[in-house]
Amino acid sequence: MSMSVRMVLMFLVLLFVTLVSAYNACPKCGSIEVPYPLSTDESCGDSRYKVYCNNGVLEFLSAGGFYYKVLSINPSFYKLIISPPSIQKNTCYSSDFTSEGLRLDENLPFNISTHNTVMLLNCTEALLRSPLNCSTNSFCRQFEEEVEEGSGCRNTLCCHYLKDFSMASHMIRVRAGGCSAYTSVVDMKPGASFDSWNYGIELQWVPPN
Ligand SMILES: *[C@@H]1O[C@H](CO)[C@@H](O)[C@H](O)[C@H]1NC(C)=O
Ligand SMILES: *[C@@H]1O[C@H](CO)[C@@H](O)[C@H](O)[C@H]1NC(C)=O
Ligand SMILES: *[C@@H]1O[C@H](CO)[C@@H](O)[C@H](O)[C@H]1NC(C)=O
Repeated sequence: MSMSVRMVLMFLVLLFVTLVSAYNACPKCGSIEVPYPLSTDESCGDSRYKVYCNNGVLEFLSAGGFYYKVLSINPSFYKLIISPPSIQKNTCYSSDFTSEGLRLDENLPFNISTHNTVMLLNCTEALLRSPLNCSTNSFCRQFEEEVEEGSGCRNTLCCHYLKDFSMASHMIRVRAGGCSAYTSVVDMKPGASFDSWNYGIELQWVPPN
């Protein structure tokens, strides 16, 4: 074969590989579809968009090494919703407290969207100097009074905020000297009753180009 024929062939092979991998969605994980570019495996998706299929449960790994269950994925809007960490019964500690809450690797193409209302629980007085809503009618009070999971946090200071563009889009922090637990609701509607809240943390990804 001449040099030029070989180069054309090589180009075609590369083009083919690129096209195939671009549309190479991963297999379902349990009952949940894993749309491109999310990747559970080297052989599918785009490896920058790593998620994990652990025993049929799709999970997202934070920079702190904590796995969060993926609840839903909306590939048209480049969004996925992960489960907030649980709060250990009769305590006020989030299960991701040891990794200081949710932290995303800033080098990865994911961030926290602007649709999350975060409730910080069992906070120190230092939080009162923040722009958060720590009033007695904050959503976090309803969570503590009405929802079993929040009951261990009663009678402590709590605050809520909408995680908008003024906030760091790669973390929700809990720590000693700050707050020890949190939860999050996606698309909180003013006046909506606590039993209609959609618990989750909505993440967004930068689409692959
Ligand atoms: C609240 O947080 C403090 C640390 O800031 C901790 O000592 C305390 O045990 C926590 N309260 C509960 C109910 O977990
Ligand atoms: C705090 O949040 C509650 C519930 O959304 C709201 O009714 C109240 O006006 C807020 N307070 C402040 C100071 O923003
Ligand atoms: C998150 O990333 C998307 C895609 O790059 C971007 O449009 C959005 O503004 C980012 N959100 C925040 C809160 O930084």
